[in-house]
Amino acid sequence: MPCQSSEQLNELVLKAKKFTKQGKVADYIPALKKANRDELSIAIYHPDGTCISAGDIQQKITLQSISKVLTLALALTDCGEAEVFKRVGYEPTGDPFNSIVKLETNKVSKPLNPMINAGALAVTHMIKGKSIEERFGRLLTFIRELTGNSGISYSKEVAVSEFETSHLNRSLCYFMKQHGVINEEVEGLMDLYTKQCAIEMDCLDLARIGLVFAMDGVEPKTEKRLLPAYVARICKTFMVTCGMYNASGEFAIRVGIPAKSGVSGGIMGAVPNRFGIGIFGAALDEKGNSIAGLKLLEMLSVEYSLNMF
Ligand code: DON
Repeated sequence: MPCQSSEQLNELVLKAKKFTKQGKVADYIPALKKANRDELSIAIYHPDGTCISAGDIQQKITLQSISKVLTLALALTDCGEAEVFKRVGYEPTGDPFNSIVKLETNKVSKPLNPMINAGALAVTHMIKGKSIEERFGRLLTFIRELTGNSGISYSKEVAVSEFETSHLNRSLCYFMKQHGVINEEVEGLMDLYTKQCAIEMDCLDLARIGLVFAMDGVEPKTEKRLLPAYVARICKTFMVTCGMYNASGEFAIRVGIPAKSGVSGGIMGAVPNRFGIGIFGAALDEKGNSIAGLKLLEMLSVEYSLNMF
């Protein structure tokens, strides 16, 4: 059964909202501390262009790790599958998203997958352009196309706040530079990466991106292909295997849809051939996923039989 109305969504949001009390907002990026822990909102965007929603869906959030799916899509389009997977692996990891341990213990010293920070930095390294500005401009243009929203931009405050405090991400970059995974100047890459994480949008924009992935790279209303089908397929596969970091296995069992979270509390979901989902709930669990957002997705999945397995 399709998800029918905003009223039905509202009921689920009210149930899931209780869980915000058990989480806490991200504080390792100082600018994210200001988020409201109690908030929970969702938008669902259908192929016919209709949208149902609940909560304050106009609230803007920064993409954070959700951007990793989008940079992967752009890098795959820029460089092709073979080139991308020379620098980053295919396999999930049981480690936290910012862990450095596998870079050292893995025989071939490259990040295990594009959804952990090391892998995402290696992917951002592959985005083409003559300067950081040009590369970031290309990413923004790509995201504006995916959302159909030419107003998409980024939060300078969040980007600067992360840039000034990203010591661990810098160390991942230096480690990878030492081993030839990346070969550009680390400060420039950090500038690009922190800007990509600070790209801002609301739940509806997120849901519209989810829909493009759900429809194998085609925007269904305009019937325009925005991504090659194989790129959409690879991104969705990583969303299933690694989208919730070291909680991805449990998420696949409990919810069973391709989805990607970020530490700002956003989740982008793509229900194959059905709809796109955008969620915002700033309170996070201990693994860095929106605690009430996960509950809400679990309820939706059960209620509307979304589990693809
Ligand atoms: O690299 C970082 O730490 C952040 N900008 C993104 C991390 C993130 O969203 C992980 N999320 N669950």
